[in-house]
Amino acid sequence: MKTTISQVSQYVGQEVTIGAWLAGKRSSGKIAFLQLRDGTGFIQGVVVKAEVEEEVFKKAKSITQETSLYVTGIIREDERSPFGYEMGVTGIEVIHEAVDYPITPKEHGTEFLMDHRHLWLRSKRQHAVMKIRNEIIRATYEFFNKEGFVKVDPPILTGSAPEGTTELFHTKYFEENAYLSQSGQLYMEAAAMALGKVFSFGPTFRAEKSKTRRHLIEFWMIEPEMAFYEFEDNLKVQEDYVAFIIRNVLENCALELKVLGRDTSKLEKMQAPFPRITYDDALALLHKQGFTDIEWGDDFGAPHETAIAETYDKPVFITHYPTSLKPFYMQPHPEREDIVLCADLIAPEGYGEIIGGSERIHDAELLKSRIEEHGLEISTYQWYDDLRQYGSVPHSGFGLGLERTVAWLSGVEHVRETIPFPRLLNRLYP
Ligand code: 4AD
Repeated sequence: MKTTISQVSQYVGQEVTIGAWLAGKRSSGKIAFLQLRDGTGFIQGVVVKAEVEEEVFKKAKSITQETSLYVTGIIREDERSPFGYEMGVTGIEVIHEAVDYPITPKEHGTEFLMDHRHLWLRSKRQHAVMKIRNEIIRATYEFFNKEGFVKVDPPILTGSAPEGTTELFHTKYFEENAYLSQSGQLYMEAAAMALGKVFSFGPTFRAEKSKTRRHLIEFWMIEPEMAFYEFEDNLKVQEDYVAFIIRNVLENCALELKVLGRDTSKLEKMQAPFPRITYDDALALLHKQGFTDIEWGDDFGAPHETAIAETYDKPVFITHYPTSLKPFYMQPHPEREDIVLCADLIAPEGYGEIIGGSERIHDAELLKSRIEEHGLEISTYQWYDDLRQYGSVPHSGFGLGLERTVAWLSGVEHVRETIPFPRLLNRLYP
């Protein structure tokens, strides 16, 4: 019977065959322990010299790391194993021998591991992070489907720049100039006017010369947009969504979180609603904490965000930033011209901003003046203006950065480990 490691619980006491790779090995004169992985999970194969044919034990002792195998054996429950089962091996068939696998159990530097990312992905830790990433994506689709959102796919090649022109990736589009998408938002606004509540999930490109643990050049963003939703309604969707993701990761990735050594005690208490603080109050808080390097109108840097987040045990919304700090499309506060109806959601434990969102301007005149103030080419926004010409309504939306969310929930320090093949300032390979 051929099966996978994830299915072994159905075969306790039976002999099965698993296609696997040798992740690691320990052996003595009488017994060999094979750490086997097949992508669906990990299991230990135990080969006892006295119980198998001589040739099987010889193979067990000589097989090298990452050799591919068909391993046959009897499945046993094993409480000591983190995965709950082990296999009493009866037969080994080598499919392809791996000679001198570069990633050994010894410590390797980050650059070396990044150069071998295509192989590093096979490690237990990277496997766990990718499974958590997958769970967040799965839970995202479940959440927005159950809430009645329609998935809409905005284009990747675009002619406009929603988040400012300094971080654009240029490319030729036949005779024209084009940019790789830095946010699907403007298109999602159009989609919300057609379908009500929509969400997108796709790659995003930012030519940011930032070399921090939170910045990727190519990252994936989930961007919901809702017609008739105002500022408060928008925050409610965000906290329900993030709480839903946390719950699903805790429930469905317990093993992965354990592999990563993630302390989940704080995550378990993170129910909606989430606390809120205005930019003004956050600034006062920072001043009280001794940050003298920042005044009204300055953006918060990573140390500021971390300091604010540390005063709460849940993600915190920082609301109502100065207009001058934010993109052209944000709705101004009804009583204060100098601030906008926006919120950033800051994750605890120093993981930084995971969501940026706002209510959008729905008045055509105001939008036009904001586009001009930001020095943007009005003709490229003609279609966007049309949304304000024909039945304009208040609407809101946000963007959640997948990799920062994966980093936070996994407890992984740097976003480079949260995407299969990270694109960083100095890395386009592998
Ligand atoms: O705050 P941002 O720039 O918001 C937007 O792009 C809006 N148009 C979204 C919307 O309202 N539809 O980015 C949103 C999120 C950030 O909070 C962060 O999580 C992530 O995207 N992000 C990055 N993640 C990794 N690397 C980068 N360079 C990132 N830049 C933003």
